[in-house]
Amino acid sequence: MARKIIIDTDPGQDDAVAILLALASPELDILGITCVAGNVPLALTQRNARIICELAGRPDVPVFAGASRPMVRSLVTAEHVHGKTGLNGPELWEPGMPLRKEHAVDFIVKTLRTNRDGAVTLCVLGPLTNIALALIKAPDIAEHIHEIVLMGGGSFEGGNVTPAAEFNIYVDPHAAKVVFSAGIPLVVMPLDLTHQTLTTRDRVARFAGMGSKVGSFTAEMLGFFERFDMEKYGSAGAPLHDPNVIAYLLRPEIYGGREVNIEIETESMLTLGMTVVDWWRVSGRGANATFMREVDDHAFFNLLFERFESFVDS
Ligand code: BDR
Ligand code: CA
Repeated sequence: MARKIIIDTDPGQDDAVAILLALASPELDILGITCVAGNVPLALTQRNARIICELAGRPDVPVFAGASRPMVRSLVTAEHVHGKTGLNGPELWEPGMPLRKEHAVDFIVKTLRTNRDGAVTLCVLGPLTNIALALIKAPDIAEHIHEIVLMGGGSFEGGNVTPAAEFNIYVDPHAAKVVFSAGIPLVVMPLDLTHQTLTTRDRVARFAGMGSKVGSFTAEMLGFFERFDMEKYGSAGAPLHDPNVIAYLLRPEIYGGREVNIEIETESMLTLGMTVVDWWRVSGRGANATFMREVDDHAFFNLLFERFESFVDS
């Protein structure tokens, strides 16, 4: 039976690749895509999620809009990375498929309450606002979540928005604190790991050569996405962060990490949004997450290529 997932996201080119990977994977049953403000404002993230579903020929996937800003702080966005639309690169269109009327947080709560067998995994690709709000609104859902797999944080690698903080956690550190202290099994894909999965020229060319709309769209998105990171890091391409969340569900054996305690900094202005990772287990605090640090990047990209080949134009 396919594994039931909800994808919570703020597309974003790397979110888009993650969503496409999930849509191309029969092992996964996407119950819904819930959108949050992050890389760009909510009006754009929910629109982008629908564009991606239409691109994949899946307008049947329900898409919901959630929080339009973080729980406490003002919204910080990342147009300098993703472009004004959040999906700069390919030509975009106004999606025809509807946005569901239900609020994303209500959808998450309802879905977890009607799947009390612990079968639903939350895949979180953006700031944790929707997930924290769902846990605050309905604390009983915590025990019905199979696990949360999220992209966020960093330790040895430092931060990408401040020296200490990674974007998704920095945007809503208060929400992250709620989620990291909820006692739910957590798998964390931090910068330490995602900085190893780089979109090199050859890899982008492989998508372009697929000869499908999805392949070309992906190559155009990644072509735009890599410009910023190549300048910033001087690396061979951009880190493809969010697809690691989905790839982990499909190929857990290509990842390596450690169960650790992770606390979120919410007070210091200098290190706000930092994930304080007790890698050496010196704090005496119990483990609350698996912090992934190793990935076989060739296996990761081969998985993407194999799955994206399944998109053929109608
Ligand atoms: C994370 O922030 C966003 O810009 C990306 O989509 C990813 O989720 C990386 O820090
Ligand atoms: Ca994201």
